[in-house]
Amino acid sequence: MQTREVVISGSTVRRPRKPWTETVHALLVHLRSCDVPVPQPLALDEQFEYVSLVGGHAGDEAWPGHLTADAAHSMGQLIRRVHDATRNWSPPTEACWSVPHTSSITVCHGDPKPGNFAWLDGRAVGLFDWDAARPADPASDIAYALLWTVPVPIRPIPELSATDRREADARAAALLEGYGWEDPFEVAERATARHEQAIEEVEWLGSHHHEPHASWVRDGWPGRWRRELRAVRP
Ligand SMILES: Nc1ncnc2c1ncn2[C@@H]1O[C@H](COP(=O)(O)OP(=O)(O)O)[C@@H](O)[C@H]1O
Ligand SMILES: [Mg+2]
Repeated sequence: MQTREVVISGSTVRRPRKPWTETVHALLVHLRSCDVPVPQPLALDEQFEYVSLVGGHAGDEAWPGHLTADAAHSMGQLIRRVHDATRNWSPPTEACWSVPHTSSITVCHGDPKPGNFAWLDGRAVGLFDWDAARPADPASDIAYALLWTVPVPIRPIPELSATDRREADARAAALLEGYGWEDPFEVAERATARHEQAIEEVEWLGSHHHEPHASWVRDGWPGRWRRELRAVRP
């Protein structure tokens, strides 16, 4: 049984080691050398990886208060810094990533939801939890971040008022502006497609006995997510 427990002790985070952890550590070293605020890899043993805490306030409790256009703008900016920094990085020859991926010169974080950012004064100041990193189209990280910052009309919230929708649209526009995305971005279409991909990735990881995905699959979560998605997919 793999432990999925993340243990924070002082300024060190201990996380379960995965087959892709060494590759992720190499990526983190590169990102830090480009001044991107990500954890510093400290050590690896057979079972665990050890990385530093990033500055700022982290955790799921830290982010709901940051669902503002300014917060979304700062997420877009930080995601852009990650993408820009990875374009001149060559992954190790034996690079291993958590999920099957396309070939791309950009490495994406893969899971840039607000709960994986550290926050200070309502702005994203750090990005951790790099297990889902993989070479990918930059738009896939943007779509994933939008899924969480603009839960409209991606999630079924029929009673949502026009004001809420306007705020969601403003957050989407701010995230795209922070990133510096210049082309049109079909928010609902791309975010729901990325959600479908994320569900497939959970199933893939579960079928390869990785936790917590195997438990989620056993508990029937992918089916529930898909039904929810089908109800709102544009
Ligand atoms: N490097 C880090 N810097 C700051 N906080 C962290 C860091 N790594 C983990 N945490 C904290 O631990 C929690 C869980 O860690 P995370 O790496 O996101 O794993 P998971 O989402 O798989 O539980 C985070 O929500 C955050 O509060
Ligand atoms: Mg996390």
